[in-house]
Amino acid sequence: MSSTINWGIIAPGRIAHKFAHDLQLAEGARLHAVASRSMERASAFANQYGAHHAYGSYEEILDCPDLDVIYIASPHTEHFAHTLMCLERKIPVLCEKPLAINSRQARQMVETARANDTFLMDAIWTRFIPAFEEALQLLDDGIVGPLKTIRADFGFRADFPPEHRIFNLALGGGALLDVGIYPIFLATLLWGKPDNVKASAAFGPTGADLSSAMIFEYTGNRLAILDASIAVNTSIEAFLYGETGTMHIHSRFHHPAKVAVSYYEKPTEYFGHNFTGNGYYHEILEVCECLRNGQKESKKLPLSFSLQLMEVLDWVRKEAGIVYPGID
Ligand SMILES: NC(=O)c1ccc[n+]([C@@H]2O[C@H](COP(=O)([O-])OP(=O)(O)OC[C@H]3O[C@@H](n4cnc5c(N)ncnc54)[C@H](OP(=O)(O)O)[C@@H]3O)[C@@H](O)[C@H]2O)c1
Repeated sequence: MSSTINWGIIAPGRIAHKFAHDLQLAEGARLHAVASRSMERASAFANQYGAHHAYGSYEEILDCPDLDVIYIASPHTEHFAHTLMCLERKIPVLCEKPLAINSRQARQMVETARANDTFLMDAIWTRFIPAFEEALQLLDDGIVGPLKTIRADFGFRADFPPEHRIFNLALGGGALLDVGIYPIFLATLLWGKPDNVKASAAFGPTGADLSSAMIFEYTGNRLAILDASIAVNTSIEAFLYGETGTMHIHSRFHHPAKVAVSYYEKPTEYFGHNFTGNGYYHEILEVCECLRNGQKESKKLPLSFSLQLMEVLDWVRKEAGIVYPGID
């Protein structure tokens, strides 16, 4: 592998543009190839970001010379097939969140990565945002004492037509997999799989969950209170209540720049760093570093964690009655 990591992108939609922007900022990485279902879209994207190769089908990019890794930015339901297609050709993959539509698919993706000795990572970029990493370190140092309650939300008013993927059940549409995954990621990262899950959802005309509310119960009288919406804007914050204080990860908590810690008898302290670009820069660096080191998964975001996260999402779906007909 050369010192510059050559990236390919499958599915150049909205998020792929933001990602490609950050790729331009990442030292030792460049956009090498892009594949769309339309040659016209692939060429336009390649021209915009200076990629050497453009393909009018996803299959063709698999034969691209000098490709080191592919970023998959298709809708949720397509992640499984697109990831398997790359891994079976031993091409490393960074796959957008959610890794899959359910844990059964995610398990098969992880098994395929391992069987082919090929790198795979879930694109939960939050894990690599500097202020979020600092928050994790401060919690680990016991800055607010043992945590007792987590509250986190992610809601935005999705101003899209009803046929958009976000409302389309056939593409895994709804609040849970689009944005609910972030508060669930936070609780699962900090406390693991809950002992019990309570969840309910409000559904829109397409059958997609417009809002979801969850309570995760953990041993030691700990609770995570989480919610997600694609119908309304919410504050997108996280509050981590410990025995000696509270950590507040400021909005938008999934890519924060500011973290506050307040205590019962001391003034509030502030921490944080700006993230680079749109924030995807940091996960790009992590993938590049893993590839240079010959790692097959990220130590900071291991595949065992991604599987656990998908299992928790499955559990919430079961409790809230969220179904993607014909998919599972
Ligand atoms: N990490 C983040 O912050 C973040 C933010 C937003 C979204 N995401 C994730 O990224 C993924 C894509 O989201 P997006 O907002 O970028 O979606 P989008 O704008 O709709 O783009 C998705 C692209 O996938 C391709 N595609 C392949 N099969 C498709 C199908 N059956 N229907 C529609 N499009 C299809 C299309 O590109 P071509 O036809 O040109 O190939 C389309 O432009 C989702 O899984 C989402 O969860 C992550």
